[in-house]
Amino acid sequence: MKVMVIGSGGREHALVWKLAQSKKVERIHAAPGNGGTAAEKKCENVDLLGRDICEEEVQEALIRYMVKESIDLAIVGPEAPLAAGIVNRFRAAGQNIIGPDSAGAALEASKAYAKSFMEKYGIRAASSLTFTECAGALEAVRAHFDSPKGVTPPPLVIKADGLAAGKGVVICSNAAEAGKTVRAFMEDGALDGAGKTLILEEFLEGREVSVLAAVSAAPSMEGVILPFAAARDHKRRFDHDRGPNTGGMGAIAPVYDFTKAAQSDFIDAILAPTLKGMRAEGFDYRGFIFFGLMIRNNECKLLEYNVRLGDPETQAVLPLLENDFAELCSAILDGSLSQYRLAWKPGAVCAPVAVAGGYPGEYRKGDAIAFNETAFKKTGALFFAAGAVRSPGGAAGSGLRTSGGRVLSVSAYGADSAEARDKAYAALNAVNFSGMSYRRDIGET
Ligand code: AMP
Ligand code: GLY
Repeated sequence: MKVMVIGSGGREHALVWKLAQSKKVERIHAAPGNGGTAAEKKCENVDLLGRDICEEEVQEALIRYMVKESIDLAIVGPEAPLAAGIVNRFRAAGQNIIGPDSAGAALEASKAYAKSFMEKYGIRAASSLTFTECAGALEAVRAHFDSPKGVTPPPLVIKADGLAAGKGVVICSNAAEAGKTVRAFMEDGALDGAGKTLILEEFLEGREVSVLAAVSAAPSMEGVILPFAAARDHKRRFDHDRGPNTGGMGAIAPVYDFTKAAQSDFIDAILAPTLKGMRAEGFDYRGFIFFGLMIRNNECKLLEYNVRLGDPETQAVLPLLENDFAELCSAILDGSLSQYRLAWKPGAVCAPVAVAGGYPGEYRKGDAIAFNETAFKKTGALFFAAGAVRSPGGAAGSGLRTSGGRVLSVSAYGADSAEARDKAYAALNAVNFSGMSYRRDIGET
C-alpha cells in the first residue's frame, strides 16, 4: 500500500513514522513534509512548488500525483486544507482520503458554527454568546464586568470565529482588557478577518484534557467515534503555565487524572451527542477529531473541536498505539471501524517541543541543529522534526536547519510518566541549536 501524508509539522512526521512501521505500507509520500520526513524510511517528500496546500490548483495537482504514483490513501494533518475542501475534491475524484468534508471541517474553522452545533445537539460546553456587531459585544463586556463593589467578576473568554493559528482566544480579567481585545478583533482586523464574528464565553476552571478519536460517520453508515488514549497538551509558553499561548509546547499521554468516571461522562455528555449531530447534519466525516475538554469533579465540558489530530498530542499518543495505522485508516473509510479494537501499550510517553528563541513572537530561522546521535540513541526516544528543513546530504537527525517556531519534538516512552519525562529530557539534551528553548515541566502535573 502507498500512502500520502499531507502537512509539514511534527504531527505529520509522527504519522509518517507510525505508517512506516506497518508491513502493509511500502511507500509514503509526505506533501510537502519536512526535514525529518525526508529522512524517514520508506518516505519521500513531495514538492508543492512552494505553494500553499489550501490552493485549489495545488490540491488538484496532488490528486494527479496520487493517480500517477498509484497512491492508495491520503491522510490530511492540518485544519486549513480541510476547511478549504480538500476532502470533497479528493472524494469527488474517487481518491481515498482521511478527513472530514468541508461541512464537517466547519466544526473547527468556525467557532460560532461549532457553538451552534453544540447547542443544537445538547453537547455540554461553556455557555457563550456570539456577536457580529462590535457595539453589542462591548455592551456584553460591560455587563459582565459590572458587578457590585467587593465582588470580583470571573474572567471572560473572548474567541475569534475563524482559523487564527492559535491567536484567536484571549482570557480577559478586566473590562479594559476585554474591551481592547473586542476592538482589536472586530474593528482593527488584528486577525486578518478571523475576528469579524466573535464569541464571549464563560471562563471554566479545571484540568484540560485532549481526546483524539477516529471517526467514521457518513450518511450511509451507522457511524462511530473511537476515542484514543487521552493526552494533555501544555499550551502556555513557559513553565507552570505562564506566558502567552502557543501552538503547544509539549504533551503527555495517557492522562492519569482523566478518571473512569470522567471518561464515561465524556462519552455520554459529549462524544455520543457529537456523533448524533454529525449524522443528522449529513457530514461525510471519515477522519479524526480532537475534543478539547475541561474537567472538574469528573464532569467534562467541551472547549473546542479540532477536526484533525492534535499537534503535539499525536507525537505522545501514536507511540503508545499498538495497532497498524494503515489498517485503522482502512477501517475508518470502509465503515468497519465499529468492529475495530484499539490496543494501547502500558506506560507513558512524554513529548516536549523545542522552540526557536522568541517564539511565539518573532524568531530566527536557518540555525543549524546539532545532534549527538550516541547520546540520543541511549534514551530510546523518537525524534520528530517540525519547523526544520534538511540541507542536502545530511544523515538522519543531522543536517537539519531551523525553519519554524516549533522546531522539533522528542517522544520518550517510560513505564510511567516520571520515567518517560526523564528520558525525554535526556534526549533533548542531545539536541542543540542557537536559541533553542523548551518547557521543563511537560507532564509534571
Ligand atoms: P481553544 O482554541 O478554544 O482550545 O482555546 C485555547 C485555550 O484557551 C484552551 O486550550 C484553554 O486553555 C483556554 N480556554 C479556551 N476556552 C476556555 C474557557 N471557556 N475557559 C477557560 N479556558 C479556556
Ligand atoms: N494541541 C492543540 C492543537 O493541535 O491545536
